[in-house]
Amino acid sequence: MEENRQFLHFFDKNDYAKVVPKSDESKNKPFPLFQKPYNETGKLIDLIPPTKFEIGNISFLELVNRRMSRRNYTDEPITLEELSFLLWCTQGVKRAFKKRAGVMRTVPSAGAKSPFETYLIINRVEGIDPGLYRYISFKHRLLFIKNIENSEQKIGELAYDQKFVGKGAVVFCWVAVPYRTEWRYTILAHKFIAIDLGHVSQNLYLACEALDLGTVAIGYYEQKKFDTLLGLDGKNEFVVLIAPVGKIPII
Ligand SMILES: Cc1cc2nc3c(=O)[nH]c(=O)nc-3n(C[C@H](O)[C@H](O)[C@H](O)COP(=O)(O)O)c2cc1C
Repeated sequence: MEENRQFLHFFDKNDYAKVVPKSDESKNKPFPLFQKPYNETGKLIDLIPPTKFEIGNISFLELVNRRMSRRNYTDEPITLEELSFLLWCTQGVKRAFKKRAGVMRTVPSAGAKSPFETYLIINRVEGIDPGLYRYISFKHRLLFIKNIENSEQKIGELAYDQKFVGKGAVVFCWVAVPYRTEWRYTILAHKFIAIDLGHVSQNLYLACEALDLGTVAIGYYEQKKFDTLLGLDGKNEFVVLIAPVGKIPII
C-alpha cells in the first residue's frame, strides 16, 4: 500500500535529477499525436458547435451547489445538442499548438498533453443510431465504430453489476493514452494523468447539472473486458473511468 502511495508524491529538486529519467522530448523524439488517427471516410456525425448552444445557461454557484452523483435515469433520449454540449465541456478543442506539442481544451491538462480519448456507448440519443462511437475532438464530430448487442445489460455487468450504468442514455468511457504525457514527464506522468482525468469528470458532472441530466463517475469496471469491447490493447490505451448520463426523473 505504502509503495502505491508514492505515485501521488512529487520530488524535491535534489532528488528530481536522480530519480526522473531523461524524457523522449529532451531526446528530440517526435511528439505524439494528440488525437488517435481514424478512418476519415468512416461514418462521421456532425455535432452542434459551441457557438450555437442555446442550453445550459445557469448560474455557476447554483451548478456547484446542485452537483451530486445521480444513478437513476429515465428511458427518455437526450438530444444531439445536449450530447454536443457534454462533449464540448469535457474535451472540446479550443486551439492546437502548431510548433509546441499540445492542445488547449475546455479542461486543463499537465503540459497541455491531453492524454485521453472519449468513447461513447450510445443507447438513446435523438437522431443517432445506438452503438459505440468515438469523439473526434479536433473536428467536433462523432465517429461510429460498431454496434453493441444487448448494450444495457452488457455495460451493467461490466460495471461490476452496477445495473444503472447500462441504463444511461449514453455512457462516457474515457481512455488514457499515457505516452502523450510520458513523452515529456516520464514517471511523473501518471499522477498528472489521474489529475487531468478528475478535471474531465468534474466538467461532465457540472455540464450535466446545467442541462438537468444526471451522471456519476464509475471507478468499478472490468478492465480487460471493457478494453476488449472498445478494441483497445490495454497497454498503450485503456479505459480509466466511465460515466453514464441520462435524464433524471422529476420528483
Ligand atoms: C473516481 C471515482 C470513482 C467512483 N466510482 C463509483 C462507482 O463505481 N459506483 C458508484 O456508484 N459511485 C462511484 N463514484 C461516486 C461516489 O460514490 C460519489 O462521488 C460520492 O459518494 C460522493 O457523492 P456525490 O458525488 O453525490 O457528492 C465514484 C466517484 C469517483 C470520483
